[in-house]
Amino acid sequence: MDKKIAVVTGANRGMGKAASEKLVTLNYHVIMVGRHEKEINEAANSLSAEAFVADVENEKDIEKLTNFISEKYNRLDVLINNAGIYMQEENLFSSKESDMKKTFEINTMGPYRLMKGLIPLMQKNGYGRVVNVSSGLGSFGGFSLTCPAYSVSKAALNMLTKLFSSAVDGKQVKVNSICPGWVKTDMGGPNASRSIEEGISGMIWAATLPEDGPNGGFFRDGKPLEW
Ligand SMILES: NC(=O)c1ccc[n+]([C@@H]2O[C@H](COP(=O)([O-])OP(=O)(O)OC[C@H]3O[C@@H](n4cnc5c(N)ncnc54)[C@H](OP(=O)(O)O)[C@@H]3O)[C@@H](O)[C@H]2O)c1
Repeated sequence: MDKKIAVVTGANRGMGKAASEKLVTLNYHVIMVGRHEKEINEAANSLSAEAFVADVENEKDIEKLTNFISEKYNRLDVLINNAGIYMQEENLFSSKESDMKKTFEINTMGPYRLMKGLIPLMQKNGYGRVVNVSSGLGSFGGFSLTCPAYSVSKAALNMLTKLFSSAVDGKQVKVNSICPGWVKTDMGGPNASRSIEEGISGMIWAATLPEDGPNGGFFRDGKPLEW
């Protein structure tokens, strides 16, 4: 395969689908990951991309995905950890432990397992860009009492960015977190301030960084954010 290969999770709708579409137009071969077979197949077919059915909460599915990429392509150039859930809580004290665990599994453990499985392949081939789609709500200055599970999961995702970015060379392989801003998707809702196109611009920037671009940072629209 001459094209660069990208994996985008949560690609059946929202920013994951839009980022996949953009990468296809930039001539990437995009593997769109979604947990519902019919939806992800339809989305991938509509964009001339490849579909892979996986629930990022499921360890076995992640293992299948990493094995599939190693065996079929023996290479991966871009990983966008985009799949995520957001749960609104009435207040911190009544928030549910089960929500905290589920959100952590999807928003944090999924990216952790994918980075563990796929970054070694990037290192072997001397190129890789990992984009962890985080949120200002996961920053120490921007958290919210109405979504403790989400804030904890994204703060932990940012720490994974720091850890994995410190374990790679930072030139050939880079790992960064981005916040897309408040975006009009199912998650962001209709009152969000930004369009999907605006939301994904920082994702695509981080996915296509040149060799002298940053590693181990947290960005919105390519500009550094406070952790
Ligand atoms: N929208 C915002 O304002 C905003 C702000 C800051 C950060 N973000 C982050 O941006 C990313 C994309 O958000 P979005 O606004 O595009 O959200 P969205 O429209 O709600 O889409 C979320 C995507 O994640 C997928 N997903 C959720 N759980 C999954 C699982 N267990 N396995 C596989 N896929 C799963 C969903 O698939 P299903 O259809 O199967 O549920 C869907 O494709 C998220 O990480 C979010 O936290 C969003």
